[in-house]
Amino acid sequence: MPANSKQRLVWHDVTLFDGHDTLPEPMAVIVAGDTIERVVPMHELDPNESAGCRILGQGGVMTPGLVDCHTHLVFGGSRADEFERRLEGASYEEIARRGGGILSTVRATREASEEQLFSLARPRLEALLRDGVTTVEIKSGYGLSVADELKMLRVARRLGEELPVRVVTTLLGAHALPPEYQDDSDGYIDLVCREMIPAAAAEGLADAVDVFCEKIAFSVAQCERVFEAAEAHGLPIKAHAEQLSNLGGSAMAARHGALSADHIEYLDEAGVNALREAGSVAVLLPGAFHTLRETQLPPIAALREAGVPMAIATDANPGSSPLFMPTLMLNFACTLFRLTPREALAGMTAHGAQALGLHNRQLGRIVPGAPADLCLWDIGSPAELAYAVQPGRLRQRIYGGEPTHVQEQH
Ligand code: NIG
Ligand code: FE
Repeated sequence: MPANSKQRLVWHDVTLFDGHDTLPEPMAVIVAGDTIERVVPMHELDPNESAGCRILGQGGVMTPGLVDCHTHLVFGGSRADEFERRLEGASYEEIARRGGGILSTVRATREASEEQLFSLARPRLEALLRDGVTTVEIKSGYGLSVADELKMLRVARRLGEELPVRVVTTLLGAHALPPEYQDDSDGYIDLVCREMIPAAAAEGLADAVDVFCEKIAFSVAQCERVFEAAEAHGLPIKAHAEQLSNLGGSAMAARHGALSADHIEYLDEAGVNALREAGSVAVLLPGAFHTLRETQLPPIAALREAGVPMAIATDANPGSSPLFMPTLMLNFACTLFRLTPREALAGMTAHGAQALGLHNRQLGRIVPGAPADLCLWDIGSPAELAYAVQPGRLRQRIYGGEPTHVQEQH
């Protein structure tokens, strides 16, 4: 049945967080097909207007479907052993230098077939959906060869085809130096620029291009080459930058009009200004901060003062953030980074969408014309979502106007 001939849906008396703010009075929301048609205070709702609608809910807190704008959900293997080594005293950087860390996941990911990677990633993604996610970004970056990076991106695309969620893919070829290029990092960057990006673009497999700009990964100059190649193929860019040190990667990415700079614990004043001028989003990843027991906080006050939009994401990955629970990240954003619950929620809705370049379609908002991706929560106020860490509060999850509650599908 075409979307526009479907019966309209209505929710009554919801406390509404619209992606930016909590509205001051109980609201009604009407959805037609896959789009939000009307958002109106209850006392202004004309009974005739909702007469032909199917009432889908009453009360509770409604938020936009959550947008997890930074994940590495597709990977082989496990890094529980590395977790144990870190507890015995090894640092993330030491483990990476000894061929562990990202490279151990690269070995396992290269060995896995597309089918195996899909089966491994599916339950991880389902965990996100059960916690309210309706849009997720998934990066490659554990293949590090043309064939293996494309394999990862195909798995990410297929996840979006088979599960009720919008998947945005990002090519992260410049994530780590693969062993076969050990003494030739510029040669590997050539491969990323001349073969990987063109191949991913030709197959329509990447929606954006990312880099890891860090001493243990790639230099600012190397990342800039990757961005130039992405631009030549019309692909937007973003960067893992200023996570472990301040190299100036965020400012360089901003000069190239990056959608976002991610991690940014070591971002300085000049970097904050560069993000503001470029309109880039600051993506904060409290899960990695927590797992790596970092102590350097991202410059929240400066970002807030400069008006740089802050997004929050899980960074779900096998090493630095094996955390597959977006609402826990809302809590961490408040407890670890001192964001307000309102800022944290905006970070996983409107600002998460902006970090993916999807805000022009009003994704991550509850306003007329926005995609009907919604969550209805059994809580008393939006702040409770960040305040308590409590699975099971998602009453309804609406994706593209379709009620889909993943828990009920099993
Ligand atoms: O976002 N910072 C680099 N990349 C990932 C970590 C990936 C891994 O450890 O496997 C991150 O934290
Ligand atoms: Fe990451």
